[in-house]
Amino acid sequence: MFRNIKASALLLVGISLSLFGQTPRAVYLDDTRPMNERVEDALSRMTVQEKVAVCHAQSKFSSTGVPRLGIPELWTMDGPHGIRPEVFWDEWSQAGWTNDSCIAFPALTCLAASWDKEMALLYGKSIGEEARYRNKNVLLGPGVNIYRSPLNGRNFEYMGEDPFLASKMVVPYIKGVQQNGVAACVKHFALNNQETDRFGVNVTVDDRALYEIYLPAFKAAVQEGEVWTIMGSYNLYKNQHCCHNQYLLNDILRGEWGFKGAVISDWGGVSNTREAIFNGLDIEFGTWTDGLKTGTSNAYDNYYLAKPYLQLIQKGEVGTKELDDKVRRILRLAFLTSMDRNKPFGSFGTEEHALAGRKIAEEGIVLLKNKNNVLPIDLSKTKRIVVIGENALKKMTVGGGSSSLKVKYELSPLDGIKKRAGAQTEIVYARGYVGDATGSYNGVVTGQDLSEKRSADELLAEACTLAKTADYVIFIGGLNKSENQDSEGADRLSLSLPYHQDKVIEELAKLNKNLVVVNISGNAVAMPWVNKVPAIVQGWFLGTEAGTALAEVLVGDVNPSGKLPFSFPVKLEDNAAHALGEFPGKDHQVTYNEGIFVGYRWHDKQNIKPLFSFGHGLSYTTFEYGKVSADKKETSAADKVTFTVDVKNTGKREGSEVVQLYISDLKSSLPRPLKELKGFEKVSLKAGETKTVSFTIDSSALSFFDADKHAWVAEPGDFEAIVAASSTDIKSKVGFKLK
Ligand code: BGC
Repeated sequence: MFRNIKASALLLVGISLSLFGQTPRAVYLDDTRPMNERVEDALSRMTVQEKVAVCHAQSKFSSTGVPRLGIPELWTMDGPHGIRPEVFWDEWSQAGWTNDSCIAFPALTCLAASWDKEMALLYGKSIGEEARYRNKNVLLGPGVNIYRSPLNGRNFEYMGEDPFLASKMVVPYIKGVQQNGVAACVKHFALNNQETDRFGVNVTVDDRALYEIYLPAFKAAVQEGEVWTIMGSYNLYKNQHCCHNQYLLNDILRGEWGFKGAVISDWGGVSNTREAIFNGLDIEFGTWTDGLKTGTSNAYDNYYLAKPYLQLIQKGEVGTKELDDKVRRILRLAFLTSMDRNKPFGSFGTEEHALAGRKIAEEGIVLLKNKNNVLPIDLSKTKRIVVIGENALKKMTVGGGSSSLKVKYELSPLDGIKKRAGAQTEIVYARGYVGDATGSYNGVVTGQDLSEKRSADELLAEACTLAKTADYVIFIGGLNKSENQDSEGADRLSLSLPYHQDKVIEELAKLNKNLVVVNISGNAVAMPWVNKVPAIVQGWFLGTEAGTALAEVLVGDVNPSGKLPFSFPVKLEDNAAHALGEFPGKDHQVTYNEGIFVGYRWHDKQNIKPLFSFGHGLSYTTFEYGKVSADKKETSAADKVTFTVDVKNTGKREGSEVVQLYISDLKSSLPRPLKELKGFEKVSLKAGETKTVSFTIDSSALSFFDADKHAWVAEPGDFEAIVAASSTDIKSKVGFKLK
């Protein structure tokens, strides 16, 4: 009865709506309806032409929507360290907008060095808000390609050498971005571990290394982060470009991991229509980088997934099953982003975001060495500090490729130190060497004039004269964002510091015992002078608030707590990829001969002492570890085991320690790394305070990938849980058995 009344009422509403010229809202527009119903409804209303149209770009960074149905365009933007300034519709050059100066966050290596999942969430949330405010639907980042060689020009955009660390850090970043109704786009899937020959190199890697080292962070992004988009990479795997790769995209991403999102090509990464149709790509971007100038009337119509696709369908050579699958994924992406009516509005260039960037920088800066407690600098006892080095003033948010930014402001290390020192301490600056004097990239101009007429000898002489007169000398050098440094498109040429910086540092070390070297980079560098310099700080590319964060650490306002997300080898040959001879490969082929033995896994295996270990980082206080214990001696595949350890701050000031858990399989049928990171916790401790840190693992932390069985296997037997302050600073171990 009641039902009938309800039905008649609905009918009446329907009749009156149509009488007044309104029709009930289409299912796809109704966000109270389940996602799949909305997707199927929209799909059923689209013509084949409209479907093909959404599968490729319409400008450098956007793809078309369905104008007839009111489905908006999709706007993407780099990523991953801030929101890139607007470029012209068809060109890479600046569009000259005056409202697009962003906050630059620290590079992802710094985020990874914080070993702090809350920082990853804060990062994602903040950059997501910036993207949202700028009306971007897809943020092109973060990158999680594994740090295979210190020469990779793009390592600074990634999260280090360990798959577990990268997995744990990428998930909160994604969640933070996507809570803004902006899709994260995890890149570059997969095996994009070098820039040399990036469009042409075919990677050969065994399945075990693929699954254990190179894929886990992507898998975590998909399954735990529920990322909405993924970007294919330029390189080839099994002789197929990764942007349309049967094995990576169809078999693994969609088949094994159940990815529901959309695969976006890297810009210009598509080269074959049939492969793009059948091998798991959804949206093609960046083909023919000069847009309209190439091709006929409209280059975008001639993209591999544009007219050529439509023609194959019209000729009946390919069906529309794949097309419908692509469009479903793209529609879902639209409903989650551009068509989400409930998404927040975002915010841009705010003080809050600058503070977030500063906090992440403070947590990520790594104190590598601090002999005789040279640091922190006590300003009350310091009359004169001489700052030397180009990176003390060079703006680092501009350059480096697609992550280059136009910022609202960037406080240099020198200005940060000056600001913090105030009037009480005199700060004097000398250049010391000339590196890269250019002050513009892709049309973004820093406004700095770094030109220098003096010779290298004159610059060194000036630095040396000043160094003698100072209470402290702070050398701020490292790499920069120009070609063959930390930059997209080319790799570094050697592990050494460029521009004769080693010589400058050696000379300074002779003249002043209070020498602090700050290395600004996203990569490991050789330090032949390591024993002659008392204090070394790894400063990363820190973004807008670089100077504030560095100064805070140097003077001790902030107690450093970052730890290295990758190993610093003494020399290049100590890195597995170089020891075994295949970086960057030749004749378009590179083989990852080292297999699973990447980073510290290789150092452990070969008993190589690194310059600075994975997970290493000092503090201005000291920590004492208790003995680790396990809640059981035996566990089973279905069970969990918890390890507990007490950590005490034994120094005089508050500080944070990253407590690391490594697991070692004592006997296995296949060779395994000596130990692998399977847990970490950053704990903050007041002076004298003790906290208990615990890690719970299940059998996935004990497993290896058995390529023959194509499965993860945890072999019964003896294991060890190792609690450590770095991969080489082991505090205690406890044995346990897997039944
Ligand atoms: C880079 C991507 C970037 C894209 C768009 C490509 O060259 O590899 O990381 O997102 O350009 O700028």
